[in-house]
Amino acid sequence: MRAVDLIRKKRDGHELSGEELGFLIRGYSEGSIPDYQMAAWAMAVYYQGMNARETADLTMHMASSGDMIDLSSIHGIKVDKHSTGGVGDKTTIVLGPLVASAGVPVAKMSGRGLGHTGGTIDKLEAISGFSVELDQEQFFAQVNEIGLAVVGQSGNMTPADKKLYGLRDVTATVDSIPLIASSVMSKKIAAGADAIVLDVKTGSGAFMKTLDDSIKLAKAMVDIGTQVGRSTIAVISDMDQPLGFGIGNALEVKEAIATLRGEGPPDLAEVCLILASHMLILGGKASSEEEARGLLQAKLDSGEALNSLKRMVEAQGGNAAQIDHPDQLPAAELQVEVKAEKAGYVESIQAEEIGIAAMLLGAGRETKDSVIDLAAGLILHKKIGDSVEAGETMAVLHLNRVHEDRLEEARSKVLEAYGITESKVPRRPLVFALVT
Ligand code: URA
Repeated sequence: MRAVDLIRKKRDGHELSGEELGFLIRGYSEGSIPDYQMAAWAMAVYYQGMNARETADLTMHMASSGDMIDLSSIHGIKVDKHSTGGVGDKTTIVLGPLVASAGVPVAKMSGRGLGHTGGTIDKLEAISGFSVELDQEQFFAQVNEIGLAVVGQSGNMTPADKKLYGLRDVTATVDSIPLIASSVMSKKIAAGADAIVLDVKTGSGAFMKTLDDSIKLAKAMVDIGTQVGRSTIAVISDMDQPLGFGIGNALEVKEAIATLRGEGPPDLAEVCLILASHMLILGGKASSEEEARGLLQAKLDSGEALNSLKRMVEAQGGNAAQIDHPDQLPAAELQVEVKAEKAGYVESIQAEEIGIAAMLLGAGRETKDSVIDLAAGLILHKKIGDSVEAGETMAVLHLNRVHEDRLEEARSKVLEAYGITESKVPRRPLVFALVT
């Protein structure tokens, strides 16, 4: 087999067999197929697409390019959740404890943030002492004992995806639905869950800006799950504005704690209940959304969901007193209000711009090696549909003095992110579709 023939075959719109895709992925991982050939193949896929069978085969070859985690020593149906990324998305910190308290084991591997989006692992590190590095035995034992663990991704999971994603990033081939779907699902499959709930974001702050593309991506991922024997469903949720009010690591942990207390922002609480309900259904603990919601609400009301977070924090070496007293989490030296320049109604909030503003204040990484400031970020005071008076507070920036030189840039970004109009604006739906 020769790579050039497979590139030509895909370029001309033909289907590649599982064996041919395996040859490409293995060869690229081992270095016998160079970057320029793999880039040409990725561009051919960008234009010609791949059918569901090819996408599933590619996914499995990437999943098996590194460690495949075997979760069979954890009792029960393991349900994973994946969000396609967004701004202010702290759902994992709410969902993990909530779902675990309802009896579905959560063995979660999460990532760090880069650019305008945050990462769960960085957020959890805002809790002092919290360790995201457990070895596999500790990881499994903790899930069996308390039902929940959240750790960083293992060093050698899906190396083929890592290499290919890096190449796609610099060859304008990221935004291909089969390539995104296989990249995301290869990591989920390697992480070992029996079932997967996908939270596919749509809107200005998401990878997929239109509902149509988001549904196509969701269908491609659900198809892969179904073909490889992992029950998968996808919820299409809004990312046309940040989720909740807080953006930034400690600020988001505080908001997640408030949500587990039943005092969180309504949009965050609702999205978490929807995703958690589907996790319970796939985990065999409920047979309908209604039943699942009742069970989850009871766990929130009784404090068991919050207690599950405390137990995880303790088990992973963190200071659980900060969960009872979130004011003990890192706090910034300065809080600066951003005031509205004109009156009206909030029509849009460019989530990406808000994410960049938080990054400028120190909450995110501009490069892979940047050190993040756990206390930094911002709290939105206005969301889409809210009315605004001139001079009213739109947002409060939280920053330490070391980042004061970025304050004006961050303030302008926040103001630019808000679209204000004169007429009343309807609230946006939180969830647009369910793809099964
Ligand atoms: N996220 C991924 O993990 N892979 C992609 O290709 C795009 C987004």
